[in-house]
Amino acid sequence: MPTLQLDLGQRSYPIYIETGILSDAGFLFEEIQSSHLIIVTNTVLKALYLDTLKVRLTQLGKRVDEIVLPDGESEKTLANLEHILTKLLAMPASRSACIVALGGGVVGDIAGFAAACYQRGIDFVQIPTTLLSQVDSSVGGKTAVNHSLGKNMIGAFYQPKAVYIDTNCLSSLPSREFSAGMAEVIKYGIIYDPAFFTWLEDNQREIQDKHGPVLNTMIARCCEIKAEIVALDEREQNIRALLNLGHTFGHAIEAELGYGTWLHGEAVAAGMVLAAKLSMTRGDINSNELKRIVDLISVFDLPTEGPQNMSSQAYIEHMQRDKKVLENTMRFILPIGIGKARVVSDVSKDELHSLLN
Ligand code: GLY
Repeated sequence: MPTLQLDLGQRSYPIYIETGILSDAGFLFEEIQSSHLIIVTNTVLKALYLDTLKVRLTQLGKRVDEIVLPDGESEKTLANLEHILTKLLAMPASRSACIVALGGGVVGDIAGFAAACYQRGIDFVQIPTTLLSQVDSSVGGKTAVNHSLGKNMIGAFYQPKAVYIDTNCLSSLPSREFSAGMAEVIKYGIIYDPAFFTWLEDNQREIQDKHGPVLNTMIARCCEIKAEIVALDEREQNIRALLNLGHTFGHAIEAELGYGTWLHGEAVAAGMVLAAKLSMTRGDINSNELKRIVDLISVFDLPTEGPQNMSSQAYIEHMQRDKKVLENTMRFILPIGIGKARVVSDVSKDELHSLLN
């Protein structure tokens, strides 16, 4: 039985969250009819999981091919998308083939976008291996590559056929990346679920110790919240925008430092604190709530401030560039207490200068 279901009518799909799925779950790929699977992964994950997965899928009677990319955010490019598409054409992969994205957010985003483009769309499955991709990017169908003029600017909403989350993968995840994923976990508590925020405070030790059942509960709650939000607003017309808490400031930090210098989750953590401080100046959050947010973020060794020498002008320039590409207003997600948030587009430059200086 899947742990959860994302309800999108005919495009609904199951999300499985279990320990050891890759090595021994009987249900793996039950819903995938295709007899030709193409695993897209990176060099690091190839060494860790590719052989196990290939053996299991071959035992299921599937033809299995692989496409291996170099590791890193800098690889989420149009050039690598073309590389994947060329490989698919050369195989050749037919319209009934299915792509398997085995990896973190970069692999999931580029493999999903390749699936959306190849022969106008073939099936794909997500097997996310990082905490960040397990709680956020593998669910909800956002696929993309980066462009030199903007992150995630070329992409599509394209839903997978299933998501398989094996929490065993987290044992090999570097601790910095685990922490970065915790930023997105904390985000769900701030924007949507005060009881979950309290649960995170109460279980911080077990989470740090990567206690299996606690991680499963935590990841399941994040996916449940994400599934609820995406089912209401798949194409981010309203409530889905709340999932971008901390991202306006965070993207500015990533762009200023160069993508990959701070991990996405680290920039989002600092961005969430800045958003909470902005809320406090507007009377939407009190000092105790701000302290709880800062304390929980600090527990996971995440930054609670932007880079030391980043000026308010630099933030504003990056955010305005984003604004020009995305829409005409600079948009912020601001928490209202803990457990609710709203989209705000009337933040003045003066407010930003006084916050960021
Ligand atoms: N990562 C935010 C979203 O999927 O909407």
